[in-house]
Amino acid sequence: MIEIISGTNRPDCNALKISRLIKKLYDEQGVESAILNLQDLPPEIFSPASYAKKPDSFLPFQNRVLQADGLHIVTPEYNGGFPGVLKYFIDMLKFPESFESRPVAFTGEAAGVWGALRPVEMLQLVFGYRNAFFYPKRVFIEGVGNKLDAEGNLTSEKHLEMLREQTKGFANFTQRLQGIAAKG
Ligand SMILES: Cc1cc2nc3c(=O)[nH]c(=O)nc-3n(C[C@H](O)[C@H](O)[C@H](O)COP(=O)(O)O)c2cc1C
Repeated sequence: MIEIISGTNRPDCNALKISRLIKKLYDEQGVESAILNLQDLPPEIFSPASYAKKPDSFLPFQNRVLQADGLHIVTPEYNGGFPGVLKYFIDMLKFPESFESRPVAFTGEAAGVWGALRPVEMLQLVFGYRNAFFYPKRVFIEGVGNKLDAEGNLTSEKHLEMLREQTKGFANFTQRLQGIAAKG
């Protein structure tokens, strides 16, 4: 199972639209995937007490990460970085087993011309520190607002093809590395 992490909790976010497109591409290949939507995080996880004791409502999120054969992260760019809620989510997960030897792919989306290159590279610092295995081909969707139609479809064939290649490659990568990450 590949968990597609939609990396923000902003209502009506593009990250979720791109995550849905990515899920469709995995579906077309017969690869099992699911969207882990940060909008669905239980409000109680944001209590400072959660550092010491996670609320039970967070357990399903934790377990999905631990059970995943791979994590496909979709991040927007917020002030030159990735969203704070994504870092908070990462900080709430068990370590080291959540990311140790776990395959990870990155897709960035932003209004600007770099398509969230910086947020993805910042995530690579974090996941590198945690000994995750990076899928090397990253996808950056620049000017994303102009590339999504009203139904949330990508109008850029070039970017759709990049995502198709990335999902195919990452599915293959996770299959080859299956079982290498600790399962919870
Ligand atoms: C808080 C915030 C900060 C942003 N900062 C940047 C930025 O630094 N660079 C950029 O290119 N776009 C920036 N944007 C625009 C977003 O990258 C763009 O609208 C993106 O699609 C938003 O992602 P989302 O819809 O998944 O939340 C910012 C948007 C928000 C909400």
